[in-house]
Amino acid sequence: MARIRDSILKISEYVPGKTIEGVAKEYGFIPEDILKLGSNENPLGPSPKAIKAVRNHARTISVYPPKGAKELRHELAKYVGYPADQIVVGNGMDGVLDLLTRLFVEKNDEVIISIPTFQYYEIFTLVCGGLPIFVPRTPNFDVDVDKLLGVVNEKTKIIFICSPNNPTGNLMKESDLRQLLDSTDSMVILDEAYVEFADFSMVELVREYENFIVTRTLSKAFGLAGLRIGYAVAPPEISKEYMKIVPVFSVNRIGISAGVAALRDNEHLRKTIKTIRSGSAFLQNNIPFKTYPSQANFVLVDVSPFTAEEICESLLQKGIIVRDCSSFRGTGDSLIRVSVGTKEQNIRVIEAFKGVKT
Ligand SMILES: Cc1ncc(COP(=O)(O)O)c(C=O)c1O
Repeated sequence: MARIRDSILKISEYVPGKTIEGVAKEYGFIPEDILKLGSNENPLGPSPKAIKAVRNHARTISVYPPKGAKELRHELAKYVGYPADQIVVGNGMDGVLDLLTRLFVEKNDEVIISIPTFQYYEIFTLVCGGLPIFVPRTPNFDVDVDKLLGVVNEKTKIIFICSPNNPTGNLMKESDLRQLLDSTDSMVILDEAYVEFADFSMVELVREYENFIVTRTLSKAFGLAGLRIGYAVAPPEISKEYMKIVPVFSVNRIGISAGVAALRDNEHLRKTIKTIRSGSAFLQNNIPFKTYPSQANFVLVDVSPFTAEEICESLLQKGIIVRDCSSFRGTGDSLIRVSVGTKEQNIRVIEAFKGVKT
């Protein structure tokens, strides 16, 4: 492997949630009997309008997509209330985060990451030859702003924060974010992948701070995870530079049409949010282990004195996929993340948890 850069060799592989196909094969189930609550997908599926758009545009896939996905950026601009030149899009939020990191980080630059959190901030930092600096959240998983500021220095290029945070489910306080933004010139990138389920968003602060970017996705509340559409709301000078490096066709034709249709379907969005909020409360009240309050479409469960591995294995034997959080840096070995499902799915996972406890 002599030709591969050292910074790449250092990266530990991202561990995604298990798939229905893989679990069906390994545990001898038929795929229809498997309940997948490990990847925070929309249990209602995509908007019917998005499905129709996919069908209607199927014949056009031999033609390259339009440059810069203008139609999608305009629809996103309406949705977030910013001009289209402040919206950038990419191949899922993963693709957007990758490119944003490359805009700011060079070899030996530092990137501060508030952990436990989504693993890709670390991976994209290492890809650029940067140094991830991990700052643990407080015991109840709040962002520790004083500790973050304590490690900021002239080499700090980005501070990554996720709100609501994956896997803990809690929101950052606006006063904490303002304190951070008021105290540093480094870029602050706020990942709002789950914001539609939360009490508030902090996207309005992009108007006030030139070192602030909010990243979002259509994978969660809009149910388009398989199409890979992510976006960011950024100051105009930053979007301009992003547009120079984003592959010109990074969002495909089907993604553009389905994304636009999904954004126009308010009813499906409202139904999704209602299902998730009531399902989240139901899971928090009925899972027979300690659960953490959540503003996202998943609930974090502490299964002590068992290990997450033990409980995940027992649930897999019942055909249920949840997420063992041991692969998240700084979580220990007893945390499990359970995506909120439909009422019937939530009842099934609660019964399974009850079964493993007795
Ligand atoms: C916090 C967070 N950010 C980003 C993503 C990636 O989103 P996308 O599907 O748009 O790449 C996820 C996906 O699970 C996530 O949990």
